[in-house]
Amino acid sequence: MRLSDCHNIDDFRRLAKQRLPWPVFDYIDGAADDELTKARNTAAFGQCDLVPDVLAGVDTIDTSITVLGRKSALPLILSPTALQRVFHWQGERAVARAAEKFGLWFGISSLATISIEDVGAMVSTPKMFQFYYHKDRGLNRSMIERCQAARFDAIALTVDTIVSGKRERCARSGFTSPPRFTPSSALSYAIKPRWALDYLFREKFSLPNLDTHVSAGTGEAVSIAGYFNSMLDQSLDWKMAQQLREDWGGTFCLKGVMSVADARRAVEIGADAIMISNHGGRQLDGSRAPFDQLREIVDAVGGRIEIICDGGVRRGSHVLKALSAGATAASGGRLYLYALAAAGQPGVERAIALLKDEIERGMKLMGVTRVDQLSPERLRWR
Ligand code: FNR
Ligand code: LAC
Repeated sequence: MRLSDCHNIDDFRRLAKQRLPWPVFDYIDGAADDELTKARNTAAFGQCDLVPDVLAGVDTIDTSITVLGRKSALPLILSPTALQRVFHWQGERAVARAAEKFGLWFGISSLATISIEDVGAMVSTPKMFQFYYHKDRGLNRSMIERCQAARFDAIALTVDTIVSGKRERCARSGFTSPPRFTPSSALSYAIKPRWALDYLFREKFSLPNLDTHVSAGTGEAVSIAGYFNSMLDQSLDWKMAQQLREDWGGTFCLKGVMSVADARRAVEIGADAIMISNHGGRQLDGSRAPFDQLREIVDAVGGRIEIICDGGVRRGSHVLKALSAGATAASGGRLYLYALAAAGQPGVERAIALLKDEIERGMKLMGVTRVDQLSPERLRWR
């Protein structure tokens, strides 16, 4: 299977599976407990149908939106995800450059494998920094200051990861950051020599946004669950979130809001946006899907805060449904991560190009020329 054989996101998933050692593939693909929520995140889009209009004159259409104060050429954001140079040696650089090429927002994780400064200097496309609130207040301060100096366009505080989800695939494989070559995992790496050679001989693994403060940044192998459970501050509350927004002073988003009550509080603390998200099903299994929660949140706070529907998106039609239900934009991680793992920057570009094509085709077949013409009347619930 080659890159040119990939015609949808699931094809990239298969190619990534071929290329990656299984502990790494399972880290990306896996989720919490029975992985019910991960499956539901995508299945939820199948609970309603699009109702097209015809004869609408769709020779020129505009797929752009404004979100978080910046223009995006598509109503799609590349969500922040950790450890990208473990998936492919080009890592975050590939994702940043692909996002720039298509004029999209993208995010880097607190656990990114390139520095805030490198990202800031590299691309002018709008970028968000995903903030994990650490017990170490000095680290929190340093991340904010570095984002300010590097002119990041937004900070997204992740609020659904107060402890780690129970990721059984990672428990079984012993996946750590950085990957550890133990006798039991050695075979999984040895049978993927291309990945192993890249990993061993390209730029050395690091977590440059943390390494001044925590040992996980210095290359000590830790499980992701161990990292979350020991480093993140479980006392995080609304007052601390509001203080973080004030300390940052720029565009501020809460990532991982699921309830109407919390969406209202996000408005109260002055957040610019929420990402309705369950972390791609990697945290609370049994949580509702973002798309299932979207309508009630739009009814409660729509127009007062931007609403990004995060997770489960694998098709352009999923983006169109999220927008019809009232989201400002849709976002996702695996939709570009499988492609990154499969083929680096050309992979990410191909994945975005496929989704762009599906969004454009879908809009034309729906008889809309602008994204804001997608409204609840264009959806029927089964
Ligand atoms: C994530 N996600 C994530 N979120 C976050 O706030 N900080 C992080 O470091 C990461 N890291 C991460 C790694 C991997 C491998 C995945 C798959 C996801 C969650 C991510 O931002 C997003 O919410 C989900 O990916 C959405 O679900 P889909 O699009 O993958 O279905
Ligand atoms: C994850 C992180 C790092 O989901 O947020 O694995």
